[in-house]
Amino acid sequence: MAKHWKYYSDQDKQTDPDYGTDIIAKERYVSKEFMDLEVENIWKKVWLMGGPLLDLQNPGDYITTEILGEPILISMGDDNKIRAFYNVCQHRGNRLVHSIKGNNSEHSCSFHGWRYNSNGELKFAPDEETFPQGIPCDKLKLKELPCDTAIGFVWFSLNKDVEPLEEYLGIINEHLNPYHFERQFIVNDVTVEMPYNWKTSVDAFNETYHVVQTHPELTSWIEDLDIQIDCYDKHNRYLVPFGTPSSHIKDKKTITDDLKLYMEQAGIDPSKFKGDATEVRRAIQLHRRKHGKEMGYDFSELNDDQLSDDFHYLIFPNITLNIYPESMMLFRQRPHPTDPNQCLFDLQNYVMQPDANIPGVTERERRIGGGKIAKIPEQPERPLHRQFKHGEESLGLVLDQDAYNLPNVQQGMNSAGYDGLWLGSQELRIRHFHATIDDYIYKNKR
Ligand code: FES
Ligand SMILES: [Fe+2]
Repeated sequence: MAKHWKYYSDQDKQTDPDYGTDIIAKERYVSKEFMDLEVENIWKKVWLMGGPLLDLQNPGDYITTEILGEPILISMGDDNKIRAFYNVCQHRGNRLVHSIKGNNSEHSCSFHGWRYNSNGELKFAPDEETFPQGIPCDKLKLKELPCDTAIGFVWFSLNKDVEPLEEYLGIINEHLNPYHFERQFIVNDVTVEMPYNWKTSVDAFNETYHVVQTHPELTSWIEDLDIQIDCYDKHNRYLVPFGTPSSHIKDKKTITDDLKLYMEQAGIDPSKFKGDATEVRRAIQLHRRKHGKEMGYDFSELNDDQLSDDFHYLIFPNITLNIYPESMMLFRQRPHPTDPNQCLFDLQNYVMQPDANIPGVTERERRIGGGKIAKIPEQPERPLHRQFKHGEESLGLVLDQDAYNLPNVQQGMNSAGYDGLWLGSQELRIRHFHATIDDYIYKNKR
């Protein structure tokens, strides 16, 4: 049957790799041995996302994070250089900085008061003459890690011999730079302690096969069946058409309330729209293309499909991005330091601020296509980071639906009655993900 939608721009479909049809052994999700292999061969080798550049704009700005229990400090020095360090005082090993983000030209250790500047240099140690092995400030500084920036984020690595970040990200740079994440603002920033393996989480977002059963309300306005999957060297993506009914549903004419809402978000008035449901997606693309500037957005670097769809990327190993023309949702899946049955799920929502400086946009106002005028919102206040356990707070309907299944999936993986993942072609990204893991762990390719 002919597709009721198409990509309007060339999306450079990659040839699908052939990884065969074997099951993916469940031990990869539950065994401590496999987890140890991942620690040595993946987590200590790759580039890891630290946080958004937005949080590192001025000398003294810093963020902290953790990977495998390693506390990390990323800070902009007085020379405007961003550096990453182990967040550990070199005196007796106390954690140096405790807050998630802030600005400080100097970090003072809470134990004996050693003070480090934002470049990681030790500048003051009380009673320095009482160290017969040498004045501490002459001998010690914070231990530094490789650090670089790309696609609006700062990255670090536990591997001092890591390849250049640009090489590591490869095609991701070219694909994601046009979105200008560095101009987006965080509107939600949480970490959820999840009772499942980090890969259980990555997998759940790397296939649309579960949409009909898990998220049935999405099928009236997104395609979930016949979508483009691209596997690159180690990263992968799929392109999910939004604003069109799923191939799974028979009624392709009726514009449902969910689809109307998506039209409204794009600036189209559904009550004035003459077409049927299959015509909405293209109308959204054309509307954004025509009225983008008036709305305060510069879409000139995005192709038509990017103006309606979810361009969904996995940056190996643990960054999942749902990318829309005016916003982005980022998941960072971090392993638990000791337990393969747990992970940390970082969720951040980003929005592009309309730009009042684009010619034709009235200062502090934007014109939504059709003449309606709306105020450009002020720069949203950076939300405080919050951490909580699975189930303690809602993450919104769709993510709650995903998070409902996954603890049970993890429990099933531990059952004697289950062998491993029996994957279909809609789940190709999961096979590619495991092939990349194998490259790191067994083929010593990286
Ligand atoms: S442990 Fe930091 S000053 Fe002693
Ligand atoms: Fe889902």
